[in-house]
Amino acid sequence: MKRIAFYPGTFDPLTSGHLDIITRAAGLFDEVIIGVAQNPSKAPLIQFKDRVLLVEQSLAQAALPAGAVRVMGFDGLTVDVAKQHGASVLLRGVRALSDFEYEFMMAQMNKTLCRELETVFLMAALEHQFVSSSLVKQVAQLGGDVSAYVPPAVASYFKPELISPKP
Ligand code: COA
Repeated sequence: MKRIAFYPGTFDPLTSGHLDIITRAAGLFDEVIIGVAQNPSKAPLIQFKDRVLLVEQSLAQAALPAGAVRVMGFDGLTVDVAKQHGASVLLRGVRALSDFEYEFMMAQMNKTLCRELETVFLMAALEHQFVSSSLVKQVAQLGGDVSAYVPPAVASYFKPELISPKP
């Protein structure tokens, strides 16, 4: 049976930390589906369709093995979408201890909602421990260079002469 992992997130935007988790997971599972959540409650800076597009472009640039990863946008419950797409694993990355409480609560809630799905955590690589989407956005909006923290497609997105992020 194909072992499919569903990696949900707001990806506002995708960072090099996320991409590292995806790349490593691609070696562990038959398929990794990256689920970009609409997540209006987080009031994302980047429009939903652009967040999906940036993940697609970043994966293409990362040249992962064909069929190993795919991207989809979704609205609704993560567990429902994961099940609909045949996933048996919910994948999340964890950084420092500060992520733990939130991730623990989400994993417990998702387990209660769907017993068949297991949440699997990968530790963020040391060099990505302090990267976050919020900090990337803050730096980019103030005109700083974020190319060390995000894939090239995301860095280009933030270049003011290409696209200015919409509130
Ligand atoms: N490296 C660097 N940073 C990382 C990282 C890594 N490996 N893994 C996570 N992060 C950071 C992100 O940059 C982001 O930073 P920010 O808080 O500054 O924005 C943060 O950790 C988490 O963002 P992201 O990975 O995009 O996930 P999220 O926490 O926004 O995702 C959902 C939340 C979408 C999974 C959750 O809201 C959800 O499942 N929603 C659907 C509705 C639902 O089912 N709700 C019930 C859930 S129990």
